[in-house]
Amino acid sequence: MEEESEMAKKGHLVFAANGQRFELFTVDPSMTLLEFLRTQTPFKSVKLGCGEGGCGACTVLLSKHDPLLDQVEDFTASSCLTLLCSINGCSITTSEGLGNSKVGFHSIHKRFSGFHASQCGFCTPGMCMSLFGALVNAEKTDRPEPSPGYSKLTVLEAEKAIAGNLCRCTGYRPIADACKSFASDVDMEDLGFNSFWKKGERHEVNISGLPLYNRNHEICTFPAFLKREVKASMLIDSKRCSWNQPSSFQELQGLLKSYDANNGVRMKLVVGNTGMGYYKEVEHYDRYIDLRYIPELSMIRGDHTGIEIGASVTISKAIEALREESKGEFISASKLVFKKIADHMEKVAAKFIRNIGSIGGNLVMAQGKHFPSDIATILLAAGSFVHIINGVIHEKLTLEEFLERPPLDSKSVLISVRIPNCGSIKDVYPEGDSKLFFETYRAAPRPLGNALPYLNAAFLAEVSCSKSSNGIMMNSCQLAFGAFGTKHAIRARKVEEFLTGNWLTNAVLCEAIKLVKATVVPDDGTSDPAYRSSLAVGFLFDFLGQLVDSSSNGWLKGYSGISMLEDVISKEKYDNLDHVKYPTLLSSSKQVIELNKEYHPIGEPITKSGSALQASGEAVYVDDIPSPGNCLYGSFIYSTKPFARIKGIGFNSKSLPDGVTALVSFKDIPKGGQNIGLLLSFGPERLFADELTQYAGEPVAFVLADSQKHADVGAKLAVVDYDLENLESPILTVEEAVERSSLFEIPPVICPKQVGDFSKGIAEADHKILSAKIKLGSQYYFYMENQTALAVPDEDNCMVVYSSIQCPEYAQAAIAKCLGVPEHNVRVLTRRVGGGFGGKVTKSMPVATACALAAHKYQRPVRISMNRKTDMIMAGGRHPMKITYSVGFKSNGKITALYLDILIDAGISLDISPMMPKAVVGALKKYNWGALSFDIKLCKTNLSSKSAMRGPGDLQGSYIAEAIIEQVASFLSVDADSVRAINFHTYDSLKLFYDVSAGDPLEYTLTSIWDKLATSACFNQRTQMIKEFNRYNIWKKRGISRIPCVYDVSMRPTPGKVSILHDGSIVVEVGGIELGQGLWTKVKQMAAFALSSIKYDGDADFLDKIRVIQADTLSLIQGGITAGSTTSESSCEAVRLCCEVLVERLMPLKERLQMQTDSIRWEMLIQKAYLEAVNLSVNSFFIPDFASKQYLNYGAAVSEVEVDLLTGQTTILRSDILYDCGQSLNPAVDLGQIEGAFVQGIGFFMLEEYTTNSDGLVDTEGTWTYKIPTIDTIPKQLNVALLHSGRNPKRVLSSKASGEPPLLLAASVHCATKAAISEARKQLHSWGCLDGSHLTFQVGVPATMPIVKELCGLDVVERYLQCKVGRN
Ligand SMILES: Cc1cc2nc3c(=O)[nH]c(=O)nc-3n(C[C@H](O)[C@H](O)[C@H](O)COP(=O)(O)OP(=O)(O)OC[C@H]3O[C@@H](n4cnc5c(N)ncnc54)[C@H](O)[C@@H]3O)c2cc1C
Ligand code: FES
Ligand code: FES
Repeated sequence: MEEESEMAKKGHLVFAANGQRFELFTVDPSMTLLEFLRTQTPFKSVKLGCGEGGCGACTVLLSKHDPLLDQVEDFTASSCLTLLCSINGCSITTSEGLGNSKVGFHSIHKRFSGFHASQCGFCTPGMCMSLFGALVNAEKTDRPEPSPGYSKLTVLEAEKAIAGNLCRCTGYRPIADACKSFASDVDMEDLGFNSFWKKGERHEVNISGLPLYNRNHEICTFPAFLKREVKASMLIDSKRCSWNQPSSFQELQGLLKSYDANNGVRMKLVVGNTGMGYYKEVEHYDRYIDLRYIPELSMIRGDHTGIEIGASVTISKAIEALREESKGEFISASKLVFKKIADHMEKVAAKFIRNIGSIGGNLVMAQGKHFPSDIATILLAAGSFVHIINGVIHEKLTLEEFLERPPLDSKSVLISVRIPNCGSIKDVYPEGDSKLFFETYRAAPRPLGNALPYLNAAFLAEVSCSKSSNGIMMNSCQLAFGAFGTKHAIRARKVEEFLTGNWLTNAVLCEAIKLVKATVVPDDGTSDPAYRSSLAVGFLFDFLGQLVDSSSNGWLKGYSGISMLEDVISKEKYDNLDHVKYPTLLSSSKQVIELNKEYHPIGEPITKSGSALQASGEAVYVDDIPSPGNCLYGSFIYSTKPFARIKGIGFNSKSLPDGVTALVSFKDIPKGGQNIGLLLSFGPERLFADELTQYAGEPVAFVLADSQKHADVGAKLAVVDYDLENLESPILTVEEAVERSSLFEIPPVICPKQVGDFSKGIAEADHKILSAKIKLGSQYYFYMENQTALAVPDEDNCMVVYSSIQCPEYAQAAIAKCLGVPEHNVRVLTRRVGGGFGGKVTKSMPVATACALAAHKYQRPVRISMNRKTDMIMAGGRHPMKITYSVGFKSNGKITALYLDILIDAGISLDISPMMPKAVVGALKKYNWGALSFDIKLCKTNLSSKSAMRGPGDLQGSYIAEAIIEQVASFLSVDADSVRAINFHTYDSLKLFYDVSAGDPLEYTLTSIWDKLATSACFNQRTQMIKEFNRYNIWKKRGISRIPCVYDVSMRPTPGKVSILHDGSIVVEVGGIELGQGLWTKVKQMAAFALSSIKYDGDADFLDKIRVIQADTLSLIQGGITAGSTTSESSCEAVRLCCEVLVERLMPLKERLQMQTDSIRWEMLIQKAYLEAVNLSVNSFFIPDFASKQYLNYGAAVSEVEVDLLTGQTTILRSDILYDCGQSLNPAVDLGQIEGAFVQGIGFFMLEEYTTNSDGLVDTEGTWTYKIPTIDTIPKQLNVALLHSGRNPKRVLSSKASGEPPLLLAASVHCATKAAISEARKQLHSWGCLDGSHLTFQVGVPATMPIVKELCGLDVVERYLQCKVGRN
């Protein structure tokens, strides 16, 4: 012990990770905790998803010990931003620290696994830690003791715990269930489908069915040895670590002075370092000054003047303190202000950021770096003051003065911020008989935070009432707006002045709003400026409107005679009529499946193979493989110009940036090799640009360095010298491509076929819509694991490449071509992929090839884990397209003919694009169009090539069909659902449109799905209720929509190999790759089923004998591509074929043995087989036969949404999905696919904008700008049922696909949104604001808040007020 204290005294960095002591003598101060854990410890559960605080994959639990109070403080933190030096004396717990396969998994891991809450698993350890953090802290509360097995956590806390964590696979519902299962107030009946209790047993459902959570035996988050060391006061040696921790002002001032004097030394003040998530500075700092240990900066003090919060106080602690004070002794008005500020702060970032990010850091970023802060705005409205110090000069100024000053210089420090007590406002406005209102607002793509707002606002108003005039007078107000594309938050002074002393009437409101519009004007270049201004109007209207209304609707009755400042009215009282109150988060869900025992264990909902390992973080992804000695790290330099000559590539500095060793480019392709990075049957794509770039985002070189960080910084610092002289302009739009005949050919064999005679069909029509247009954008895969590869040179010119790829076979071919070696020299290995969604079909190839090329050149291992930004820039994504269509139809809505002109943007190379026309038309044909004709062009543009994002083409085709149906319905002023129904296929028309894929009449289950869903989702009743809701609500409108999907899939030849080892354990290899879709799980079930035809004894745990192993291109050839939703089935079938042969080989032996003994154990049979030299390894190659290789998948969904007319926010109230899974191979896996795909579809239709700049370079480069769904943006109720459509000998054990088709059903959310907008427009029309064509409108995809709001009327408030004023 003494020895330990001694060490600590020497000033080294000492901390614990999962109970293990770490002591570091010198540390690069810019090293993050994540970097350290991943590169220098065995704890790989912390994953790098974004590196900017936006995904939660890196979440850990940070624990601090207070020796005085002997208390441990535990909180989650994002390890990608936390600096290693800042955790001196702390203890870190990662998911493997909660439990693991060696010591036993934690109940969190087990429940995540049992609730089927982990698919690819890349997000899972972070999710587990977010939940654990909430659990640990709930247990510290003084809430009543929960029943055994439960925790003190509440359901709401459990769901909120993971609100900032992203998952791209599951759709969150099962994750929410796993989290809620710990809550003391959970109703077990509400928990979703899981492996802990079986269907039919629900009446017996209780906590004992779940893996035990024992509060009394929870893990210790802070080891005793560290407590002793903390007592011995730990200080870091600032010389060795370049890290200072001043503990007083004087010390801080001394340091600032010394660095000032010491020219050239770059110093940074730091608290949580979360600002780096936004600014991502690459500049190197020589010194850091940690501000957390100066008492004045860390205190929170409340007195009669208000609350003072030290600048280093974290946002979480500030929230806690404000909540506490809001219960304390302040007057009610102040309590309201504190509570509202705390509520708003809870929407800032995610918990794991709020726990480390400080109030001061936020304000300094807002002040000097134009950060669109929430905190600045709300504190501004509350009339806050700041205290700053510069040298020895102390200054106290209003927050407004602070914000308006030039940026703080490097010697100035923000000490604290003070939120005044509202009593002091009363002193300024001493009218006495008055009331105080305070409200804060933010409009952001995610209601619970983890998304910057388009605009935020906060308003404080002090009003009084005249009994005689029944009116309300504005005595004073403070109106703040921020984050709308302005340098910093502002007070709307002119509006305040105008309102002050005015009676609040609609006419006054009109004037105030005019002034707001003139004040809230976003800076040039801000996106959606008109939308942002309209938000300001909407928020002010919401705030003041209730006061105006209240004066006329009798509210004043209750108002008169009450002591003014003590009675605070909250706006919730004035909420409009609402039939059903929906909570913020997922409220309930239902999963209905039918189990099929026929092929046991096929059909069992067994948990995903390896899911507990994924949860504990032990599952090994490519980047978790330890770096071999001498390893180099790569990072791509990409072109920023679409079509330019490259004159040179270099660095700004004279010498190479830190750690950078070399640049690899096309010039390094070895003799005999080719500049090929991607190879598919349609053609190759080059690895690096040569003299001429072809698109912005094209790799031009590969930086090699001694660490990933150095490689990434090196690539960022690289300078490419371009020459544009005498070059043609690039082609950046499909229209230009057509004009310049830049088109790819579509091979005739995969061209879709037209149906019927368009001229005849259109002649039969009563009505026509001609040349209508639809535009669809792109979508980024957002797999949680970025592209990654590791190439290791082997003897005799061979290369072993570990790649996170969906088609290792093609990577092998591309690498061999690039290196100029035979394919047998290249072995590509893929164990698991952290999410693919089609983004790792082709786009992983150049990543693996670049590593292989560099490894080949330098004969050293080379690896890359791409950063999110570069990944997003190079990914390509979903195909954008422009559609022009003409449709003819009868007066009853029956469509007689459809013609489409479709321009598909394929980007620079073919990739999989030739498949697109067939896929688009395939899904579009879900309705009987009468005659269907089209002209589809595949445009070659100077943009990154688009690839196979989940449901490629089908998603667009299916949506185009819905958009046309909606347009026809609008034209006829009838309900879209009836137009859908009348255009449904009969079996005969289905056959005509789909030919062999249509299968037999009995397979056409869509009509029954359609009807069943109407009943189970109460479609008709809800449609009526929505009408009523819309009649009574002015500012919220609801819409409902039911849509079908038909998805044509085809199975591809797939290899399999099954080998039985001496001890009876079984090794399975398949062509398919485990991407999280549960392929291995189904394969295991299939192997167990197929081998079970040898009846043997003791087969209870037979599944445990089977291991599916990584894909290895030299072991199992012709693996093909894992895509198209059918790889699980075909891999299963390949395995079944192998097992059939094995059974055939083993059967004679078994029969012989049976004659000798009654009981034959599997192990015994296999031992005998070995002795008798039975060949126990079988390879197969499943080739689907022509008649059954293609088939149709059916499903339907009903979604109901609510649109907020003031903000354009869409809330998905409920979605019901019914999907035909045939006889599901594993209903748990299929349910997961359906829900996950549906939510990914919601992302496409409602949220995700994958945009480019004018050069075609992707400019949504990370979690700050690209918003995938989170738990707060999914349906509040999500009900999924699998239709068990029975036996079908043509399918693999009667199963059907589930991976992609359900994605298409998310269009129901978009269509429901359109229905709600339509109601808003009808209302506008009734006010005389829209002409007769008000119902013929299109809703863009994605239907983001600005788009929805624009359609609902950016000026809806003004129009409403004009109406009201006009009427008065
Ligand atoms: C993913 C993510 C989402 C976010 N979302 C939101 C949001 O929705 N709304 C919102 O308002 N904010 C949001 N934030 C911002 C967040 O609140 C700030 O990053 C955080 O508060 C900064 O605190 P910090 O302690 O980490 O600052 P640091 O990163 O340590 O410092 C930030 C800057 O301030 C300087 N600095 C820090 N303290 C002082 C001081 N006392 N005196 C002088 N200079 C100082 C530092 O030198 C540095 O330049 C988000 C942040 C992240 C990472
Ligand atoms: S990797 Fe840290 S939050 Fe995404
Ligand atoms: S399981 Fe969540 S990202 Fe894959």
